[in-house]
Amino acid sequence: MCGIFARVAAEPVADTLIEGLKRLEYRGYDSAGIATLEQGGIARICTVGKVEALEAAVRSGPPKGSIGIGHTRWATHGAPSERNAHPHIAPGVAVVHNGIIENHRELRQGLSDLGATFRSETDSEVIPWMISHHMASGAKTMDALRKAGEDMKGAFAVAALTESEPDTLHALRRGSPLAVGFGDKGAALASDPNALAGFAREAFMLEDGDSAELSRSGVDIRNAQGEKVHRQIVTIDDTALTTGSDGYAHHMLKEIHEQPQVIQRILSTYGSTGSILGRLTFDFRRVTRITLIACGTSYLAASLARRWFQEIAGIAAEVAIASEFRYEPLAPVQPGEIAIVISQSGETADTVGAMHRLKERGIPVLGLVNQAGSTIAREADCHIPLLAGPEIGVASTKAFVAQLTVLARIVLAAAQRRGHSGVSILHSALVRVPDSVSAVLHNEPAVMDVAQRVLQARSALFVGRGHLYPVALEGALKMKETSYIHAEGFAAGELKHGPIALVDSTTPIFALASSGPLFEKCASNIREIAARGGRIVLVGDRAALLALSDVATHALTVPHCPDFVQPIISTIPLQLLAYHVAVQRGLDVDRPRNLAKSVTVE
Ligand code: M6R
Repeated sequence: MCGIFARVAAEPVADTLIEGLKRLEYRGYDSAGIATLEQGGIARICTVGKVEALEAAVRSGPPKGSIGIGHTRWATHGAPSERNAHPHIAPGVAVVHNGIIENHRELRQGLSDLGATFRSETDSEVIPWMISHHMASGAKTMDALRKAGEDMKGAFAVAALTESEPDTLHALRRGSPLAVGFGDKGAALASDPNALAGFAREAFMLEDGDSAELSRSGVDIRNAQGEKVHRQIVTIDDTALTTGSDGYAHHMLKEIHEQPQVIQRILSTYGSTGSILGRLTFDFRRVTRITLIACGTSYLAASLARRWFQEIAGIAAEVAIASEFRYEPLAPVQPGEIAIVISQSGETADTVGAMHRLKERGIPVLGLVNQAGSTIAREADCHIPLLAGPEIGVASTKAFVAQLTVLARIVLAAAQRRGHSGVSILHSALVRVPDSVSAVLHNEPAVMDVAQRVLQARSALFVGRGHLYPVALEGALKMKETSYIHAEGFAAGELKHGPIALVDSTTPIFALASSGPLFEKCASNIREIAARGGRIVLVGDRAALLALSDVATHALTVPHCPDFVQPIISTIPLQLLAYHVAVQRGLDVDRPRNLAKSVTVE
């Protein structure tokens, strides 16, 4: 989603603004722009499309200013266009904004009445006009920005540049992430701390209501009351957003192939039950109900964990989509309730909102987050890092597998704490997962072959039962986001209640079925599809393949393993499939259209 990068230095900043924006590209955007101070006046350059276009525009007449703000915009109010791109300008003021100003219509009307002339359709343009208006009444930039913040409803991160204070950047945060860093080469701020690599070694994560002033000599952070504060310091991961895809054609492919190491890292770090339980603020022996909350792929990890908690740890569990949970009527809180919120970015607005609601209700929240220093990592009552490393591809792959692995470890720790038997057998199965995942990755040529056969499809179905049902949903989500093929996931047993009407010879049906307790049930459902002319691609172990060889048109084999870990292993061929279909269709697999990596608006 929108990305902010701003810098004040002793040298021209235009090139580094572009570099910073490139590091934020993974968030998803459709236009970009910068503003610098040139001989006391604000100069703005904006372009539609990729940052490369902005870079070319900047190179054609390089700005010389040593203070500037930059932005990548993911359109919410108004189409992607040069006019709607940030920075937005009012007399003497330039602003970049991430978030949504919910009351922008009434603010715009009031400012128009005072003489403001708007040139964009965005909600964001009210901000520079509010600042300019307050400054015309004598306020300094910081006070004017804070006053503007008081008038705005919604979530935002704002960085402002003014002609009257040419050596200082001003920033304000409420709801959208903002990291501030200081180093030998001046100060910088960004939506993602890792975008500050090379400009600072550590970043301060602003909290809600914080403001910051950045100059060449330091940074000054204040809380909502205007008191000077120190904020959590995050070590910047130099390798994070600055490295390429390490010889892989795309970040997504690199991230898929990193998964054996990611799982291994998780299993080593959280190998003992104590390493999990020691991080919690609650005792699993007293937990009566778990609510798991997340969005998108993270929600699908939560859906699988719901089953695991019930089946393995004997704890009643439910799962909710964060955007729904935020506003739905809830039953009274029961003693022993806890919640687990799951997020790669830790900044997803709906998940953050759901977490706030849980906390207001007094429910202890465990956050499972990949991005260190993010809002959920900081604000959850306790936090277990996902340890996936930076995920740049918009389609979540290794973060999903990291979520499943961490959740599996937590479930086993909970089961052990509650005195359940059989935990060590399940743990042994988990320990073997990195090898099984490597084996699936070696089978990539077979996936490429299947990808080639389905790339013309207009739609695809994914079916599974039990533990493999959430994997079917994830397979469909991955396929639609990367390849734009309409794909749906179904519980295999549900097909005959409606979706089987979609079955025809042109629609590939990816059937997840491996030997295990539900195999025979699923096999019958697959045969029902075959009987109606469906083109079945079986994703399963050898025994499943043998049993269904008469109906499967193609197969993607996965190693045989216990039912508990089969979903993790069965996810891998579906990730590779989505990747190869998208690449063979000539699509931008790391940055699919319309999507954002970090969804910071609700
Ligand atoms: O950062 P989060 O895990 O909170 O993000 C949630 C979803 O936006 C995310 O999983 C999304 O569905 C991905 N694009 C899936 O690949």
